[in-house]
Amino acid sequence: MTPQTKKIVLLPGDGIGPEIVRVAVRVLQDCAAEFGHRFEFAEYLFGGCAIDAAGAPLPEETLAACRAADAILLGAVGGSRWDALPVGRRPESGLLALRKELDLYINLRPIELRASLQSLSPLRPERAKDVHIDIIRELAGDIYFGEHRTEGTGSAERATDQAAYTTGEIERISHYAFRRAEARTGRLASVDKANVLATSQLWRRTVTRLAAAYPRVRLEHLYVDNAAMQLVLAPAQFDVILTSNLFGDILSDLGAALVGSIGLIPSMSCGPGPSLYEPIHGSAPSLAGKDVACPVGQILSASMMLRESFGLAREAEWIESAVDRLFSRGIRTADIAGPGATTVGCSEFGERLHAEMLGALDHRQSV
Ligand code: IPM
Ligand code: MG
Repeated sequence: MTPQTKKIVLLPGDGIGPEIVRVAVRVLQDCAAEFGHRFEFAEYLFGGCAIDAAGAPLPEETLAACRAADAILLGAVGGSRWDALPVGRRPESGLLALRKELDLYINLRPIELRASLQSLSPLRPERAKDVHIDIIRELAGDIYFGEHRTEGTGSAERATDQAAYTTGEIERISHYAFRRAEARTGRLASVDKANVLATSQLWRRTVTRLAAAYPRVRLEHLYVDNAAMQLVLAPAQFDVILTSNLFGDILSDLGAALVGSIGLIPSMSCGPGPSLYEPIHGSAPSLAGKDVACPVGQILSASMMLRESFGLAREAEWIESAVDRLFSRGIRTADIAGPGATTVGCSEFGERLHAEMLGALDHRQSV
């Protein structure tokens, strides 16, 4: 693989965001040094800290830098400090605006129970076996982006959130999901609420129509309430799950709980331009500044970036295998500690990972 030069925009954001992004950047620097790549990092204000410093959660300068990047690595946004702000002016609105502006309509959230963390699943061992689900969440439409309105007063005060999908929006995310299922075991579960919602009826009709073009994929449809139950009762039945924005938000947290901790799950968001990588958890204000957060979701987001945006599979593998070896030796952050583990903080996990990665190279060179 020839050395690559890449511009990576960093959006550490709020809460634990800056701590975990720092660890992931170190890992990327190790990769660059070891494999001869040149990663140029540029950090920008985003989320609550951007509201405080620049008056808006997604400043123009930040958006322009994201558009010009090869990839974006995001920590997390939000915190109680900005909780009183209305919908539309909160840190989270910056995240939604970024997704919309870059047209990041594909969101991939891999839910994998790592062998070394099997005992952490809240499920009985026979149910927790073989969980490796790709949740594909539509990310640029649905109730997230419809009009949000509050009117009236007193007991007549009324709030409305509008949900909408066009056929085209459903088609483009479905094509991605069918192709992903084709490349895996060929099972695709589309999740909706077509017994109640018009958007879901359009969703189901559209996905069903497209299935004809993918004869190797076995498509099934589930209502979201049933899907939540099935994920807990028999998660191994799922391979690729395709769902809308709101249902994907909810089911991906459920999936994260099944595999040990929400701190472990990375994500990729793609559209026509640069892709964005972020852990699926929030800014965890109660952990911020204490150096106890789990940086693994962020680290795996960085390795996903190497693999998916830059085609650097060997580098991604180098990182992921080192994470697994630390886990097997019981090196864990507090959220995934478990009996007999050595509990370390966020930055110490980063230090140990750095040593483990370089140690693996020494080992390779000496054999
Ligand atoms: C996620 C988060 C966001 C979402 C929040 C922070 C707006 O929960 O990425 O899952 O709801 O999409
Ligand atoms: Mg969420």
